[in-house]
Amino acid sequence: MDQQDIAQRLVEIGIALSEERQLPKLLAKVVDHSLNFTNADAASLYVRDRDELEFRFTRNLTLEKRSTDNQFTTFKLPIDSRSVAGYVALNKHTVLIPDVYNRHDSLPFKFDDSFDKRVGYRSQSMLVVPIIDNLGQVLGVLQLINHMHNGEAEAFPEELRRPVEALAGQVAIALRNVVLVDQLALSQRETVYRLCRAAETRDNETGNHIKRISYFAHKLAELRGEDASFRELVFDASPMHDLGKIGIPDAVLLKPGRLTDNERVIMNTHAQLGYDMLAGSDSALLEMGATIAQTHHERWDGTGYPQQLQGMRIPLEGRITALVDVFDALSSPRVYKPAWPLEKVIDYCTEQRGQHFDGELVDTLIENMDDFLAIREEYADEFDEDEGEHSIITPAIKKPLN
Ligand code: C2E
Ligand code: SIN
Ligand code: SIN
Ligand code: SIN
Ligand code: FE
Ligand code: FE
Repeated sequence: MDQQDIAQRLVEIGIALSEERQLPKLLAKVVDHSLNFTNADAASLYVRDRDELEFRFTRNLTLEKRSTDNQFTTFKLPIDSRSVAGYVALNKHTVLIPDVYNRHDSLPFKFDDSFDKRVGYRSQSMLVVPIIDNLGQVLGVLQLINHMHNGEAEAFPEELRRPVEALAGQVAIALRNVVLVDQLALSQRETVYRLCRAAETRDNETGNHIKRISYFAHKLAELRGEDASFRELVFDASPMHDLGKIGIPDAVLLKPGRLTDNERVIMNTHAQLGYDMLAGSDSALLEMGATIAQTHHERWDGTGYPQQLQGMRIPLEGRITALVDVFDALSSPRVYKPAWPLEKVIDYCTEQRGQHFDGELVDTLIENMDDFLAIREEYADEFDEDEGEHSIITPAIKKPLN
């Protein structure tokens, strides 16, 4: 390979790695590309976890050909000079060893031959590089073993040192991105969920309502055959539908009886309020939340609020949330009304086909009622004020709502 081929391949690998959004797949890709790029027989990847290195992924082509059981167990190493990986992470520089059993270097660690002994492998040459991000932080270590040439293990050529360090730089970027995206998505979800719960608990003491809405909306999307990204977004965004209720005074929101016309006008501003709170960000999640907040009280016949959108002009996520919100609101007690029995809820939804609701969605709901009742039982309000999935009460012994 000449310099230009090397640069070309590094760019290609960098792009391939940057496309991967899931950490386990990224780790596997890194190992595969590294093996390929260096003609190594085996590669292992360690990822830093605070002051330790976690062994996360490995491949060994010779052992795979022997179809030796390819299972590996993860383990952790301290970042110190007792192991080659720890040494590389600690000192942030590459180690190149021609033969680990015949060393003439003064490096402090001892070669751990327990793996070789256990599986009958002969480790010989090694090229071990730190994975360092642009802030100089060590994110992990890439360990390459046995540079193969005409079927024989040889020392890794010195000329591979720089290119492999460059490769490790690409890995650092990809790793950072995946971890940051993960953390961002998680913290967004968490923030939004807590915010929605805070809004919800004001008028709904044992608020599993927003959990049920999530699962109902996800189920409807799934039954319609919507793709995974839509399903996931609607799952995370539908709890935001009533976020605007945060801006409604207690005297209106918590009024035990029927609202006056004037109060009703105030109450109805919650849809636009929610939109105003959520709109205008770069986040797909908040964007869908904004849309849902704004459109969840539109009606199929165009008599809803705030925009009197009609039919298919109402975005799918709004139509879905409208139906599951009412389905759940009717089956639950409110300050202004008791819970309705299931038959009455179903009758109402059927009756409102093409008036309040998208008829196709109503059909899907009714035809798959068992799925929705299972969700309703799983996240029933009784017993279960906290996290549903951590409840020690199993769904089977939960009291049905009616
Ligand atoms: P919510 O309690 O979460 O109800 C959501 C939607 O479920 C309502 O949207 C309505 O479409 C449906 N729904 C709930 N209860 C009934 C009912 O008894 N009969 C019928 N036909 N539909 C029902 P809507 O009407 O736009 O109300 C939005 C929010 O305004 C409600 O959210 C609730 O917080 C508040 N609200 C509505 N009516 C009253 C009321 O009479 N008194 C009080 N205090 N609040 C009300
Ligand atoms: C899905 O795969 O349907 C989305 C996952 C979820 O958020 O539940
Ligand atoms: C209510 O006012 O009780 C809910 C709204 C409706 O009846 O449509
Ligand atoms: C969608 O399938 O994502 C939108 C189509 C629709 O509005 O029904
Ligand atoms: Fe609402
Ligand atoms: Fe609601």
